[in-house]
Amino acid sequence: MKGRLCDAYAVRISDGGLRHDPEQLAVLDRLEAIGAALEAPAPRRGLLSGLIGRPVPGPVRGLYLWGDVGRGKSMLMDLFHDALEIDAKRRVHFHAFMQEVHARLHEVRKTGVDDAIAPVADEIASGLRLLCFDEMQIGDIADAMIVGRLFEQLFARAVTVVTTSNRPPGDLYKNGLNRALFLPFIALLERNLEVHHLHGPKDYRQDRLAGSETWFTPADARARTALDAAWQTLAGGPGKALRLAVQGRELVLPAFRNGVGRASFWELCGRALGPADYLALAAALRVLILDGIPCLSRSNFNEAKRFVTLVDALYEARVRLVASAADVPEQLYLEGEGVFEFARTASRLRIWWSRGGSNP
Ligand SMILES: Nc1ncnc2c1ncn2[C@@H]1O[C@H](COP(=O)(O)OP(=O)(O)OP(=O)(O)O)[C@@H](O)[C@H]1O
Ligand SMILES: [Mg+2]
Repeated sequence: MKGRLCDAYAVRISDGGLRHDPEQLAVLDRLEAIGAALEAPAPRRGLLSGLIGRPVPGPVRGLYLWGDVGRGKSMLMDLFHDALEIDAKRRVHFHAFMQEVHARLHEVRKTGVDDAIAPVADEIASGLRLLCFDEMQIGDIADAMIVGRLFEQLFARAVTVVTTSNRPPGDLYKNGLNRALFLPFIALLERNLEVHHLHGPKDYRQDRLAGSETWFTPADARARTALDAAWQTLAGGPGKALRLAVQGRELVLPAFRNGVGRASFWELCGRALGPADYLALAAALRVLILDGIPCLSRSNFNEAKRFVTLVDALYEARVRLVASAADVPEQLYLEGEGVFEFARTASRLRIWWSRGGSNP
């Protein structure tokens, strides 16, 4: 990997996509070292080496990269993942990964095994040397109670983990239920991953939003192209569906990448979703790109009410909104029950719009 990562970064700077940031370069140095070790031939882990008393080599030590929003953590991890010349690598959003783990555990438990984690770790680790997680956070007790044993077994199978997070390992699952049982996971992470705080000078995502329009009207082909461009700038590549478990149900956001989600108005407000869904969505996102907000009135009262709830949830969670709509916020809802309430929504939308997507 010698120098390839820094070269790729330099190319992105010279083509104008990125600005030089020494804090990011320091991370690239760490990632270069990890990449070089991973590109070296895989350690042999045959039965014999154990039998003849040779120590089984552990995994290459990974990286836990944490810091404030928009500092470039996901961008750096993507650069690393893309540049690494091995096939045995995988990049996945942490939340999506844990959903997958629970689904696999569920399947394995049907077979009646005592410990379902070992076969699941086997499946995940099979043919894998590097797992990159974006946005590690532990939100619920179901995840908190299994990550310790799961990761222990992944490390035992020589999988290297590189992850981004908004908080240091010691703050994961802070104030969570039964946290004492979770503490060994923190110690495990600190043993197997170098912890690095990226405290760069600015929120680059905010920078990108500040200079650009965030409300496109009317919601025509031009607006669609503008939202496509906003996606490209903020998400930086193709999205994948994000599945969120909300009160035992599944909420699917059709496109998600690097904290940026995209959906149409009808996908989010045309279905029977409620406050819990919008809160979960807001908690998972930094930016929502919303296509095609129509004029609202008595005839689509339910959709309008959901839209008000969605905007409140986004606003409280400081999620930025980029949208296309039939009209400017104040002209969206002119007649019907709810007009009065919508005035507050319009004002929140206006604040986002006039401040280039930032909340007060
Ligand atoms: N050095 C840079 N110059 C210009 N833009 C940058 C730079 N670093 C990152 N960006 C851009 O800023 C945006 C945010 O970066 P990124 O998503 O990597 O942040 P993050 O640290 O992962 O944030 P979060 O904690 O919210 O997930 C992206 O669009 C990214 O391409
Ligand atoms: Mg990120």
